[in-house]
Order: sequence, then C-alpha cells, then structure tokens
Amino acid sequence: MQDRDTSPILSVRNLDVRFGRNAIAAVSGVSFDVGRERVGIVGESGSGKSTTGRAVMRLLPPKAVVTADRLDFLGQDMLAKTGRQMDALRGKDMALIMQDPRYSLNPVLTIGKQIAESAMLHLGLGGKAALDAARAMLTRVRIADPDRVMAQYPHQISGGMGQRVMIAMMLIAKPKLVIADEPTSALDVSVRKDVLVLLDELVRENSSGLILISHDIRMVAAFCQRIIVMYRGKAVEELVSLEAAQHPYTRALIAAMPDPRHPVRRLAVMDRAALDAAAEVTR
Ligand SMILES: Nc1ncnc2c1ncn2[C@@H]1O[C@H](COP(=O)(O)OP(=O)(O)OP(=O)(O)O)[C@@H](O)[C@H]1O
Ligand SMILES: [Mg+2]
Repeated sequence: MQDRDTSPILSVRNLDVRFGRNAIAAVSGVSFDVGRERVGIVGESGSGKSTTGRAVMRLLPPKAVVTADRLDFLGQDMLAKTGRQMDALRGKDMALIMQDPRYSLNPVLTIGKQIAESAMLHLGLGGKAALDAARAMLTRVRIADPDRVMAQYPHQISGGMGQRVMIAMMLIAKPKLVIADEPTSALDVSVRKDVLVLLDELVRENSSGLILISHDIRMVAAFCQRIIVMYRGKAVEELVSLEAAQHPYTRALIAAMPDPRHPVRRLAVMDRAALDAAAEVTR
C-alpha cells in the first residue's frame, strides 16, 4: 500500500450512460477516482464495467448518451474534447487493452511494424529508432526472440504472446492511464498470471494508473489496491480487500469464485430480489 498515490489521474462523478435517449441506463451515478494506483472494476456480465471504461476513453458508439458531473483526465474535461483531440490522447496518454489481441492487432501488418508505428506516432521517433524501440519493448515484455516475432503477423503468434505484444504496443508511449478490460480471459490459464504480472510491472514502472476490469473478483483483489463493485450499472461498493465486503452482491460474487485453496462443493446462488433491494435498483 505504500506506493499508493491518490492525486487523481482520472476523476469521475455521477457518470451515466444510455444506449439511446430513452433507454435504460447501462451505467448510472458512477463516481470514482484513479491515482497512480491499480483500481479494479468487478461485476457480473452486463453490469456496466466495459461501458464505464469505454465512456472514460470516449470509445462508445454514437448512439450512446454519456453525461457526468465530472469526467476529468489529467485535469481536462473529457466530455468537452473533440474526436480529433480524443484521437491524440488515446494511445499516447490513455490506453485500452482488450480481451483478445487478435481483434485489436492489425492482421495485415507485421508485429514489428505495428509497434514501431506506435512509437513513431506517439514518441515522434524516426523509422530506425522506432524499430529499435519496438525491439526493446518486446524484450521488455519478455519475448525471447524479438527479431523473429517482429517479422511475424498477428495470426502467427499464440494468444499469450499476442497479449504481450499488445501490452508492448500500448505501453511504449508510457500512457498515464491504462484500462485493461478482461486482459487475460481469452488466454490459457497457464499464461494468465504472467501477463498480469507483466502489466502490473510496467504500470508501476511508468507510475501510471491502471483500471483492471474483470468478472473475477479474486484475481482483481490479488492485483489491485482498490476494488469497485458494479451491479446493474451502479457502483454498489468500493473495497480495499475482500474481507471488507459488506454488500450482499459482493459477497455473492466472492462466493461464486471458488478459492483455489478452499474448494467448495456447491456455489452460492444469488437471491436477485434481495440484491436489487440492497442495491436500490429501481429499474
Ligand atoms: N453498443 C451497445 N449497444 C446497446 N447496449 C449496449 C452496448 N454495449 C453495452 N450495452 C448494454 O449495456 C449494459 C452493460 O454492458 P457492458 O458491456 O458494459 O457490461 P460488462 O459488465 O462489461 O459485461 P461483460 O462482463 O459481459 O463484459 C448491458 O445491458 C449491455 O447490453
Ligand atoms: Mg465487458
């Protein structure tokens, strides 16, 4: 906890997102800050985790209606930015790492070219220097034979390697905020931890803020200093450890993720009506 610095990189107050003017809110009244720290967002499928992350990065489709009392990144109002200003921020100051690298990497460009392009665009490096930076970054994400990988296309590499390539590409510009949305759920169990450890290492090295989005509350608890629990579009609880969980939904989420050290025979079944009452869900 000593490395926690809460001067906010991101400050969100009363965020509300609807997909259409009269649609039900997919995210409602969500408030949180992120400093140079690792913050997790957890919740079941459809609870609004990705929508929250994408709203911050202004990556929602045009039909999405986003309002907030505050949506500040590095002291700047994200809702007042033009598309072009957002393009300049994304990739350089804020980066999104998604579930499956195969859909995020460009299939017709070699890995080396893609990372070098990122270095040229965001760091202003020339061709040769950008390729050198790409090679160094691949080594940094522990790719043993960077020259061979640089010459490959995304479909030629494994999922775990693809996710390390994504991390290299996203973190080469040392963004101030990294949003990782289920960064390991498409990966083989054996490489999940490596990818998270690596992400964690780079984020600390750069003193960036990290938002780790996952349905896996135990995994998030292992990597994050704070956890925001979302249920039906609302942030129902904020925790520093699982032991502190008060909300029945959070407890149900913890119970639904068996602790590998303490296998359970039966998983707890969530009582939706009681949870809705506890979350004061009105829809
Ligand atoms: N492009 C979209 N158009 C319409 N509705 C959407 C869109 N994206 C998300 N939603 C709706 O917003 C709500 C929240 O979805 P979101 O993807 O944020 O959930 P999530 O917590 O990330 O779930 P998962 O764990 O499955 O990724 C859902 O009801 C979903 O159907
Ligand atoms: Mg999602």
